[in-house]
Amino acid sequence: MESSLDAGPAVLQERAVPVDVAAERARTPGTAVAHHFNAAGAALPSAPVVQSVVDHLRLEEQIGGYEAAHQVADRIEDAYRDAARLLNADPGEIALFDSASTGLRTIIDALRLGTGHRLLVSRSTYVSHALHLMSLGREHDVELVVVPNGPDGAVDLEALDLELAGGAPAILCVAHIPTSSGLVEPVAEIGALARRYGARYVLDATQSVGQLALDVTRIGCDALVTTGRKFLRAPRGTGFAYVGADLVSSLAPTAPDVRGAVWTSSRKWELKDGARRFETWEASIAGRIGLGVALAEALELGTARTEDHLVTMAAGLRETLGEIPAVTVQDPPASPSAIVTFTVDGKPARQVNERLAAHDVRTVSVPASHAQWDLGARGVDAVVRASPHVYTDGSDMSALIDAVTLIAQEV
Ligand SMILES: Cc1ncc(COP(=O)(O)O)c(C=O)c1O
Repeated sequence: MESSLDAGPAVLQERAVPVDVAAERARTPGTAVAHHFNAAGAALPSAPVVQSVVDHLRLEEQIGGYEAAHQVADRIEDAYRDAARLLNADPGEIALFDSASTGLRTIIDALRLGTGHRLLVSRSTYVSHALHLMSLGREHDVELVVVPNGPDGAVDLEALDLELAGGAPAILCVAHIPTSSGLVEPVAEIGALARRYGARYVLDATQSVGQLALDVTRIGCDALVTTGRKFLRAPRGTGFAYVGADLVSSLAPTAPDVRGAVWTSSRKWELKDGARRFETWEASIAGRIGLGVALAEALELGTARTEDHLVTMAAGLRETLGEIPAVTVQDPPASPSAIVTFTVDGKPARQVNERLAAHDVRTVSVPASHAQWDLGARGVDAVVRASPHVYTDGSDMSALIDAVTLIAQEV
């Protein structure tokens, strides 16, 4: 695949040095426990990430939660700065959330969609987001259009162009990489179309942040949401969003919180500047400290290097799985990402997943009920999903391939 970032001198230099898998394993205790292929669910965190969370909880134990938060305020600011660096955004455009879904819901609700609005969504849309958007459609009279895919399995750009030319104010909602396959949507091309037609563009980058090198200015999205626990390797219960400066000042949260607004007089309040107007007061500070450490680690490793490494590894895995009799790789053609999906003839994905677990290989099965616009539309009941990360080595790969080969042979 053409990389998400142009090969400028810094990026070229970064790519010249391969990922040191042994070093990544040494700081990831979970690699000694099982063959973990579930980065797309929740990746194995590094020991320093976990230690930072534990240390903060210990500090709360000693001095209290508010006092501890006060003491680490600078480190939380570092997390905003690094989240912004990772996306080529400004720290004022970052809001911290407990998940990608909370971020997406908050931003979409703030757009206050109603009669006359058209919500254009990709087939790659995540289940919880789809449920929210369908509810909006039903309850607020918003027209919901699921944009068709082209033959490569990605958004059909010509069909999208036609839909956008339809006239009514449009909001575009696309998942960069879905939960159900290795597809990578053409997010920059979609961004160019959104700009041409003045549509608002909200990108779900939950599976791509930490996996691919991202730049919101090149993608051209107005907002982006992501989670901490997947390819970023941060603790559960963390996430963040980018809301571009152009959009943020025109948006108000539907439920302002003391964190994002000041109650100025009996019936008045003022929203804070920037994306933090969408945040809530209560949060896991320990989780956010861990998120900050994970962000710093991702930046240190280099997102272009990580992307190269993961894309190459996934391509090799797809090829080898495809050679096993009775195994079908289910990823559509436009699938260079580190999510690899497959099925085994005559064996339900859930059963394959359980059998793999018996070999200490951790994958998941993704049912059509998590991706009706993708798996459902393709007539696939469920897939087995294997998602490696920079700590995955040859022994993990062999364990997965050997176990799938055995399972495929079982009568
Ligand atoms: C593509 C995609 N978007 C969004 C989400 C939801 O993330 P969260 O659970 O942090 O809301 C997921 C979770 O698997 C996902 O795969």
